[in-house]
Amino acid sequence: MEIIQQTAFTGADGIQLTTVPDKQPTATQIQLKTAYTPVLPWDWRSATGELAGLNPARPPYVLSYALTGIVTAVGQLRRTTLLGQRLLTVNFHGSAREQNLLAPSPLVLPVPDQVSLAAATTLIGGADAAVKLMQAAKIHAGMTVLVTGAAGGVGSYLVQLLHQQGATVLALSRPANRDWLTQLGANDTIDYTTDLTTQLQAAPKATVLLDTIGNTQLLNSLAAGQPQLQVWSIAQQNWQPLAATQAFHFVNGPIWPQQYRRLLDQLATGQLTAAIAATYDFHDVRQAQQAAQQPGQRGRTLLRYSH
Ligand SMILES: NC(=O)c1ccc[n+]([C@@H]2O[C@H](COP(=O)([O-])OP(=O)(O)OC[C@H]3O[C@@H](n4cnc5c(N)ncnc54)[C@H](OP(=O)(O)O)[C@@H]3O)[C@@H](O)[C@H]2O)c1
Repeated sequence: MEIIQQTAFTGADGIQLTTVPDKQPTATQIQLKTAYTPVLPWDWRSATGELAGLNPARPPYVLSYALTGIVTAVGQLRRTTLLGQRLLTVNFHGSAREQNLLAPSPLVLPVPDQVSLAAATTLIGGADAAVKLMQAAKIHAGMTVLVTGAAGGVGSYLVQLLHQQGATVLALSRPANRDWLTQLGANDTIDYTTDLTTQLQAAPKATVLLDTIGNTQLLNSLAAGQPQLQVWSIAQQNWQPLAATQAFHFVNGPIWPQQYRRLLDQLATGQLTAAIAATYDFHDVRQAQQAAQQPGQRGRTLLRYSH
């Protein structure tokens, strides 16, 4: 089977596809034929060493951690009823391989029949971060919330989940995404490619800013003249509030398996929509990473390993 390795902290140039022998599951493992892995900022930011403080992996390591796939073999101590199951899960040893061997874990989640494996793949590193941000900020109905990176893999879920929760959503994005974000649940969109001051003055006053960009200059512009603003970011660890009444928190960490199950159920019932920017064959991983970083993407780029 082939695996995708980061062989040096040299960005996409350090990515190599390598063939390694197939392995059988040990007694307690299951073997998954990988269907998709997401192309995450985590991967391309780790690839330069930028996240070395958060990500313990050192080259050579196998890329990514999320995956969906189908169970093709089980160890002697595992239930044979798992065979053929469609699963969403994680492999913290690196998921970018044609076959993943996985030990028992609470994060092995059956994907409902109505949900495509591609759609399920967008939940990890996407909807989960949105849930985490909303929980941290204690979002409730009636709040007015400003969202940066609204069209991104996290932001597109944030907009939907905030709308579900009854918040007024101000989505920061480029004008081409206005109609799409309105359909997802944004009450208003703010064009970050042009002057923000007049747009913010005309919009309802947000009390909470949920940030998925981590750009200090942008945070400063959004917080200027907004003493009531509480800022929660998944993308920046330190930002200095502009006023004593403002606050800043970095948000990180997992959500519970039952929260993933709820997200999968919401995809199944159509309450949530997965935004998939593009899907690439895994051999084209470098091209996929490059495309995912281009402006104007809607949602998550995926790598496909098998159908
Ligand atoms: N702490 C955690 O647990 C956690 C979890 C998941 C993700 N993250 C981090 O969260 C960030 C977002 O992840 P993602 O997967 O949503 O990324 P993504 O899918 O690449 O989306 C990023 C979005 O940011 C927008 N953007 C980029 N530069 C901008 C700027 N200067 N001003 C305004 N908007 C800008 C892009 O819009 P355009 O297309 O218009 O440029 C795009 O919509 C990443 O840094 C990631 O590492 C953290």
